[in-house]
Amino acid sequence: MHIGLIGVGVMGQNLALNIERNGFPVAVYDRATEKTRDFLGGKAKGKHIAGGENIEQFLALLEPPRRIIILVNAGKPVDDVIGGLKPHLREGDVLIDCGNSFFHDTERRAAELSPLGVYFMGSGVSGGEEGALKGPSIMPGGAREAYGLVAPVLQAIAAKVNGEPCCSYIGPRGAGHYVKMVHNGIEYAIMQLICETYDVLSSGLSLSALQIADVFERWNATDLNSYLFEITVRVLRTMDPDTGKPIVDVILDTAEQKGTGKWTSQNAFDLGVPIPTINAAVESRILSGLRAQRLSAAGVLQGPPRGEKPGAARIASIADALHASIIVSYAQGLALLKAASDEYTYDLKLNEIAALWRGGCIIRAKILEPIRTTFAKNPPPVNLMVDPGFSVLLNAKQAAWRETVRLAMSQGIPTLAMAASLNYYDAYRASRLPANLLQGQRDFFGAHTYRRLDKEGTFHTQW
Ligand code: 6PG
Repeated sequence: MHIGLIGVGVMGQNLALNIERNGFPVAVYDRATEKTRDFLGGKAKGKHIAGGENIEQFLALLEPPRRIIILVNAGKPVDDVIGGLKPHLREGDVLIDCGNSFFHDTERRAAELSPLGVYFMGSGVSGGEEGALKGPSIMPGGAREAYGLVAPVLQAIAAKVNGEPCCSYIGPRGAGHYVKMVHNGIEYAIMQLICETYDVLSSGLSLSALQIADVFERWNATDLNSYLFEITVRVLRTMDPDTGKPIVDVILDTAEQKGTGKWTSQNAFDLGVPIPTINAAVESRILSGLRAQRLSAAGVLQGPPRGEKPGAARIASIADALHASIIVSYAQGLALLKAASDEYTYDLKLNEIAALWRGGCIIRAKILEPIRTTFAKNPPPVNLMVDPGFSVLLNAKQAAWRETVRLAMSQGIPTLAMAASLNYYDAYRASRLPANLLQGQRDFFGAHTYRRLDKEGTFHTQW
């Protein structure tokens, strides 16, 4: 078999089927033997897919150098798989962790396996279960020579946009998982922005779920076109068979998270990169989890009355506000990638990353084509927002953006991410921020000193 895959969950099964469909025989293994048996006797039947009941059997099925994809839950399960493989690995073998692993873990694992001459790659894979089967977006990181050994398979199974595979070498060590982490940070931001917009349309303008689906469908036919819009329309139009109501009206308003968004925020603090929209999206999920506290506070803390008549102009302003906020989300994510590229010497090519996000992944969207051409410029802009192609859009939309945030504020509708996006825009373009006063305060209580506009050096005042 050309390639092995460990972890026969739904994602693993779908990825194996995709690899086989593209002409590469696959060996699979799972700690839970019945999963392998069910798969081989079910969806994999009659295909060039074989299974091992134990690690030795599995490895014996593979041609050298052995290429092994690991698709298990992030964290300890990955270390357990590596621990089980380690005694059997040989120089030149390639392990590719395709889960949502933390990039520092990937760097550690690669360093631990390197003395054995074993390559450990960390590859982001986005697109969910369907993407795994039909064509995901793939973000492989690790040694370039190891990538050469798996590139034909990864490029064959990836989504294609205009014939180009949504898979290219990202960078050394943990670069692939780093880029997937930031992809997820942007994913969190855009999902939250769409949800806040739904809230403004629903609580603010009293539109029903089906009416909002119609609005979003219209927007999806514009430059706002994206996978997340497409699925949102489908979610909003789905009826609950038990109650006959739109299913969103009966789903609990508490969102879960597995941690990739939180890691993005934590790492951005480490690198000193402002990403307030992504942070607001993470915090919004946390706030959603405080449901019992929210319900009791609703009886104590007051807000203004809600609900105004929907008007075409108002709805167009909301579209502009969302569009501007989405641009800002990409701007923040890409600024973080640039900082990480410098800090960790990943040598990331932002235009290539934007290109491989155009298809297969959760944040695929029309906007990624102009983002890719923007970052292909030499030199690229220091921030997406200041590139002429995007500054012109933001300038045209900023009034509507303010109007929408004002509408939300005046009706007490929380828009953490949209307001954070507008504040980021205003702070980033501010020629003078109030940090002058802040420096005065720091110097007052801690003699931390300050610098001046009119003279070089550091100064202290006896306040
Ligand atoms: C993808 C997704 C996928 C998963 C994330 C988000 O790109 O295919 O990002 O990896 O849905 O883990 O999960 P949470 O929302 O639970 O953090």
